Amino acid sequence: MDRLKDKIAIVTGGASGIGRGIASLFAAEGARVVVADVACDRGEETVRHIKASGDVAAFVETDVSRAADVERMVQFTVRQFGRPSILCNNAGVMSIEPRLISDLTEETWDQVININLKGIYLCSKYTVPEMITAGGGAIVNVASIAGLVKSPNYAYAASKGGIIALTRSLAFGCGDHNIRANVICPGSIDTPGRARLRRNRTDRQDLSARVIQKDGTPEDIAHAAVYLASDESSFVTGSVLVVDGGSLRG
Ligand SMILES: NC(=O)c1ccc[n+]([C@@H]2O[C@H](COP(=O)([O-])OP(=O)(O)OC[C@H]3O[C@@H](n4cnc5c(N)ncnc54)[C@H](O)[C@@H]3O)[C@@H](O)[C@H]2O)c1
Repeated sequence: MDRLKDKIAIVTGGASGIGRGIASLFAAEGARVVVADVACDRGEETVRHIKASGDVAAFVETDVSRAADVERMVQFTVRQFGRPSILCNNAGVMSIEPRLISDLTEETWDQVININLKGIYLCSKYTVPEMITAGGGAIVNVASIAGLVKSPNYAYAASKGGIIALTRSLAFGCGDHNIRANVICPGSIDTPGRARLRRNRTDRQDLSARVIQKDGTPEDIAHAAVYLASDESSFVTGSVLVVDGGSLRG
């Protein structure tokens, strides 16, 4: 279990669900992991789980949509462990939005775009200089199949489609500095965030006609993230990895 041995990683949204799964597997594969999240108690809990397995992690309270927080997150990482060479931009909010765009509030639009999309711009902006000094790195973004196919949620789909485009720009713009950028598009994954959404869901939002008739697990996404963060994917950049149980082909 040393596919990320001696690497230093930041995982945003690591207090819950997919982010917790990624942070735990990164640490089990030998990385020193900074868990960044707005949720302090659950973020500390992720770190306790990781340490209980004998692996290394630390928590820093971070709102990825606020530049000052993100700058502090990167400084914390450098102080705690050294320069990061892995950034996993996973933090995000899932939204259920009205059928008609005229009913979508500006507040919801701004919140979803600021966390899901601007957050990745900010985390990349402040982490990339450290990666360059470290000699390179890997950015692994978490989008969604909602960024690839029709989705009833305007802001969410726009944010996730934006992440896919931003990832390609990162791959292009940072490639000269030995930094790769790739994006994972999960389908339906069993997480606390997904459970919250399901409680409010209507039929029109059930798009699943899956080949594999079950939800995925955070570990399914974590395995993909380890591959894209590790040197095993050294010839892979600007790629979109769909991990959805076959729902796009259903
Ligand atoms: N679960 C799914 O079915 C699914 C499918 C496709 C994509 N995704 C994406 O995967 C990612 C993780 O989703 P999840 O299902 O684990 O959700 P989750 O709600 O269980 O976890 C999300 C985490 O992000 C954190 N977060 C929210 N806003 C933040 C902010 N401003 N700054 C820092 N952290 C913040 C939350 O506190 C939480 O810990 C999201 O980007 C989501 O859009 C999830």
